[in-house]
Amino acid sequence: MAFSLLAGCTSAAEPTPAGEYSSSEFTAASKCQQCHAIIHYQWEGTMHANAYADPLYQREFHAAGKDTEGLVDEFCSRCHTPIGVLAGEIPPADGSQLSEIAHEGVQCDFCHTVSGSNGTGNAPFIASPGNMKWGPFNDSKSAYHASEYLELHTQSEFCGMCHQVSHPVNGLVIDDTYSTWKESYYGQNGVTCQDCHMSPGITEFKANPGRSASSSVKREHISLHGTVGGNAFVTGMLGAEKQRKLAIERLQKAATLSLDAPLTANKGNNVTIEVAITNSGAGHMLPTGVSEIRQLWLQVEVTDSKGQNIYSTAKVGSSPGMEPGMMYNTVLGDGAGNETLSFWLADRVIADNRIAPRETVIEEHTFTLPENTAYPVTVLATLKYMSAPQGLVDHLFGEGVHEVPVISMVQASGSIYDPDRPVEAQAETPGFTAPMAAVALIALTLLLTLLNPEKKQ
Ligand code: HEC
Ligand code: HEC
Ligand code: HEC
Ligand code: HEC
Ligand code: HEC
Repeated sequence: MAFSLLAGCTSAAEPTPAGEYSSSEFTAASKCQQCHAIIHYQWEGTMHANAYADPLYQREFHAAGKDTEGLVDEFCSRCHTPIGVLAGEIPPADGSQLSEIAHEGVQCDFCHTVSGSNGTGNAPFIASPGNMKWGPFNDSKSAYHASEYLELHTQSEFCGMCHQVSHPVNGLVIDDTYSTWKESYYGQNGVTCQDCHMSPGITEFKANPGRSASSSVKREHISLHGTVGGNAFVTGMLGAEKQRKLAIERLQKAATLSLDAPLTANKGNNVTIEVAITNSGAGHMLPTGVSEIRQLWLQVEVTDSKGQNIYSTAKVGSSPGMEPGMMYNTVLGDGAGNETLSFWLADRVIADNRIAPRETVIEEHTFTLPENTAYPVTVLATLKYMSAPQGLVDHLFGEGVHEVPVISMVQASGSIYDPDRPVEAQAETPGFTAPMAAVALIALTLLLTLLNPEKKQ
């Protein structure tokens, strides 16, 4: 064992150490599928099912192992292939000793034989593989296995075992999904991770009546196991189409935008617009998780009625001469104070611009209307998300091998008219008032987003 992951824990219920079990003590997901076919169908293709196979993880895991001379091999694996660690099959980091079941990542039998935990963060789970499956029901009966209610499975603390990561040596908090949830309105009002991530509600709990096994009773709520976040990149890379679409849908429900622009402005004048971005749907920071590699930014484009570009914030890959946009993510620094995307080398947070749960941030943009402006002028603001910077992906996989999709999360638009003419007269369609035109434009852009959510730039 490289070093203790859990130094300082004093509770009697110690987390299960590496190598405590053999992988044959766990049951493959294909066995559970025989009766829990729907749940299996939802789980396969998720980032949980791919937590080990994930090619982006694999590249980063090997880079981390190299940078730290293997010090983090067990650390990373405890969340990404828990069975591999419990069975003592990893390290070695090359995966040569890993059983087939350890490749299933975060799978059914691992989660349902967790019998307790020693708090949250850095995977302090207590694993008790065997016939007993713990879950949310206190009256379930199965001919195949024993079952029992465990409150932990119904609480955010279950997810918080892994969705809270701190650096194993210097303690720097790298993933604060659980703790930011806990402090938020949601954490304070009992809205759990499961409510948003295992129910059809996405941003709140919504019941999903049905049967959890082919032969079982009908229940008022069966949790969904398609636990998606915003990863439309790796799911796409792996051909997990269903999960990719769910990730896009979730991103499009996470935030709202509102745009404040003057109704009229003169040529030659400076115009200031305000865009308010609200994290209205995520129960944690937006973005969260590996937020040093997630990319979230507002793109603002101003064009006149002849299509002339008046103002643009930087697009991905930034062409020279464009205004820089604000990136909403975290910037980590290494021991020398240099920015790094390699969180295993980080010992400080240089910047944190993420949007807190229910927080609204306001961005101001100022531009000048040129003398040849053709009215009306359209202002379009779009909140965009990328799972990782293209440069990092090119560095890890080779130039141009994988294109990271740019997801349009939400848009807002407005029009600026000529102050020298009545605003109503400037609407293109006769009888169309300016506010109606604005509404129509919003409806149109919304439609375009829905039809083509990944439209580039
Ligand atoms: C032979 C059919 C069968 C197989 C195979 C099977 N289950 Fe079940 N399981 C059931 C039935 C039936 C129930 C009861 C469902 C209910 O009451 O709604 C159940 C209930 C559960 C519950 C709910 C327990 C609770 O008290 O909340 C969990 C968790 C569970 N199964 C996990 C698994 C896992 C993990 C596997 C694979 C290792 C598995 N099951 C394999 C039939 C099966
Ligand atoms: C990340 C851990 C995790 C994984 C992986 C996982 N489950 Fe679950 N499962 C849960 C949690 C948590 C709940 C309870 C959620 C709630 O209702 O609060 C649950 C609920 C259940 C239930 C009770 C019925 C329901 O859906 O509410 C069954 C049965 C079940 N899981 C079976 C499975 C099977 C089969 C697989 C694999 C195909 C699986 N689970 C994978 C965490 C997991
Ligand atoms: C054993 C550790 C573990 C537990 C417990 C766990 N997760 Fe995860 N989860 C992971 C890992 C590791 C990944 C990332 C895999 C990857 O991207 O390579 C992940 C990914 C996810 C994602 C997808 C993120 C994205 O970017 O799309 C969501 C959503 C998620 N988990 C929600 C939950 C919820 C909700 C629970 C509790 C019911 C939970 N997880 C419990 C380890 C865990
Ligand atoms: C109020 C609903 C809500 C709650 C509560 C909630 N989430 Fe989320 N979660 C979302 C939405 C919406 C997104 C998509 C936006 C985003 O990526 O942040 C998301 C995204 C994620 C992601 C992917 C983040 C990324 O960009 O890589 C993970 C991982 C995740 N959630 C885990 C959790 C865990 C763990 C909890 C509980 C501690 C939790 N969520 C609680 C709604 C919620
Ligand atoms: C305590 C649990 C835990 C540990 C330890 C851990 N991770 Fe993760 N990892 C997660 C979770 C949870 C996510 C999902 C967060 C999200 O999607 O935003 C994740 C996501 C990732 C991702 C993003 C994958 C993607 O598809 O976007 C990479 C890369 C990654 N981890 C690498 C590592 C490396 C390398 C290590 C060791 C230095 C490590 N992780 C240690 C829980 C953990």
